[in-house]
Amino acid sequence: MKIAVLPGDGIGKEIVAEAIKVLGRLGLKFEFEEAPVGGAGFEAAGDPLPAKTLALARQADAILFGAVGDPRYDALPSARRPEQAILGLRKELSLFANLRPAQVYEELADASSLRPEIVAGLDLLIVRELTGDIYFGLPKGIRQHESGGREGFDTMRYTEAEIRRIARVAFEAARKRGKKVCSVDKANVLETSRLWREVVAAESKSYPDIALSHMYVDNCAMQLVRNPKQFDVIVTGNMFGDILSDEASMLTGSIGMLPSASLDANNKGLYEPIHGSAPDIAGKGVANPLATILSAAMMLRHSLDQAAAAERVERAVKKTLRDGYRTADIYTAGTRKVGTAEMARAVAERL
Ligand code: IPM
Ligand code: MG
Repeated sequence: MKIAVLPGDGIGKEIVAEAIKVLGRLGLKFEFEEAPVGGAGFEAAGDPLPAKTLALARQADAILFGAVGDPRYDALPSARRPEQAILGLRKELSLFANLRPAQVYEELADASSLRPEIVAGLDLLIVRELTGDIYFGLPKGIRQHESGGREGFDTMRYTEAEIRRIARVAFEAARKRGKKVCSVDKANVLETSRLWREVVAAESKSYPDIALSHMYVDNCAMQLVRNPKQFDVIVTGNMFGDILSDEASMLTGSIGMLPSASLDANNKGLYEPIHGSAPDIAGKGVANPLATILSAAMMLRHSLDQAAAAERVERAVKKTLRDGYRTADIYTAGTRKVGTAEMARAVAERL
C-alpha cells in the first residue's frame, strides 16, 4: 500500500506526522513517500502543485494530505496561491466525491457552541461535489467593464452527468446509514440548481428505499443549527458544500475533529482534515491531530480495503476522548489538556 504523504503548510506538517505514527502502529505494511505541496511546493519548486508531487499522487494508492495556505502567499496571483494545490489535485485526479462526516462524540457534546441536547448523538454525512460548480466553471476572471471600473466574474455550471454521479454516491452512502438524502440547492433563484434538483429527483427513482427531500441552501444553513439531527446524508454542490461543511463541523465541538475523503470513480482517494493550515498555531505543538488521524481511518476503509483497521483507529480515538484527553480546541474544565504529540500517542496506545 503506497501512500503519498503531502503535509503542506502550517499545522499540516505536525498533524500528518502524528497520523503516520498511528498508522505505523497497526502492524500493516505501508510505503510512505512525502512531497511538498501548497506554500511548501511554491518554496521548493515555484509551484504550489509541483509536477513531481502530482506524479507521486497519481501513482500512489491513496493520498494523505495535511493543509495548505499561508498568509505569506496571500499576495501571489491566484495560480500560484497554495489553495491551487488542493484544487489542482482534486481536478487532475477527478476526485469528484467529497465525504465529510460530522459526528458528535458523546464526550464532546458540551464542547459544542450549541446546547448538548441539540447535538448529542448527531451523525450526519455531507456529500459535496468537488470538481465542478463555480469553483471551476469558465469563464472566470477580472476584466475591464464598460462602466469604467473593473468587473470580477465566475461561472456556476453543472452538467447532468456530474449531478447524476454525485447523487449516486449520496444514495449509496445513505443505504449504509439512515436511508435519507437531503439535496441542497438554490433552485428558487439559480438555473444550475433547477437542473440539479431535476436530475437528483430522476436518479432517486433507482433508489426506492431512500427517502429524498430537497432544501434551499439558506434554509439548510439555518436548519443545521436549529435541528441538525433531522439530517442523515446531505448532497450538494461544491460551493454550498464548502460552506455547509464548515458550519456542520462546529456542531461537533471543533473543526479540529472532522476528517474527509475525496474519491474518484474507483475509490482512489485523497484524505484530509477539513480544517486549514492554522498558521497562528503552527509549530507550537498544540494542534488537534484527531481530524487527520480520522482521515487516515477513512483512507484505510475507502481506498485500502482495511475496514477492520479503520475501526480500530476510530475506536481508539473514542477511547482517548473517553479517557479525558483534550487538545486546546476541545478542552473543557475537568479534562486533561494535551498537545499534538501526546494526543496521538494516547490514540496509538489504545489501538
Ligand atoms: C475546503 C477548503 C478549500 C475549498 C480551499 C482551501 C480551496 O476550504 O477543502 O473546504 O474551498 O474547497
Ligand atoms: Mg472549506
